[in-house]
Amino acid sequence: MKKSVRFSSHSPAQTKKIGERIGALLKGGDALALVGELGAGKTTFAKGVAKALGVPGAAKTVVSPTFTLIHEYEGREKIYHLDWYRLDAVRGEDAFLTEDCFGSGAVCLVEWAGRGRALFPENYIEVRFRHAGLSSRKIEIFTRGARYADFLKKI
Ligand SMILES: Nc1ncnc2c1ncn2[C@@H]1O[C@H](COP(=O)(O)OP(=O)(O)OP(=O)(O)O)[C@@H](O)[C@H]1O
Ligand SMILES: [Mg+2]
Repeated sequence: MKKSVRFSSHSPAQTKKIGERIGALLKGGDALALVGELGAGKTTFAKGVAKALGVPGAAKTVVSPTFTLIHEYEGREKIYHLDWYRLDAVRGEDAFLTEDCFGSGAVCLVEWAGRGRALFPENYIEVRFRHAGLSSRKIEIFTRGARYADFLKKI
């Protein structure tokens, strides 16, 4: 069984395409943990996911919800896009909001997911981004839980 699927991206456009490829496989209720340093490509990837999910003008409308904590987009599925960069840990109202998102049946994308990993459901997709040069990134996809037992094979 595959443990992960790896991609090398050499441009933002390629990272968006990888996002589109994953986005095309997503269903309502899917949760994605986007993990990686500043500028590693999490938001760029999210733009591709949103495009594949039919969000109009996704390349422009999808931006990091760094200050607002959450953005909501409408495509063939509803998408919640969260960003925990400014949080040391996700607690209190932020934790309640997160639980609502995960329980809503929407596709949930979370940047800086490591800040609140305990809030993630049992089943989720993890996408790790690493800098590999000025315009190169390594992107690796893992899954957690039985819901995604066959997911990596479909990529
Ligand atoms: N191969 C690549 N894939 C994605 N972004 C790239 C790539 N090469 C260069 N870049 C640049 O890196 C930056 C990635 O920014 P992006 O907002 O996607 O990162 P992020 O991981 O969401 O960062 P943050 O943690 O600040 O939200 C952009 O300026 C983009 O142009
Ligand atoms: Mg971002």
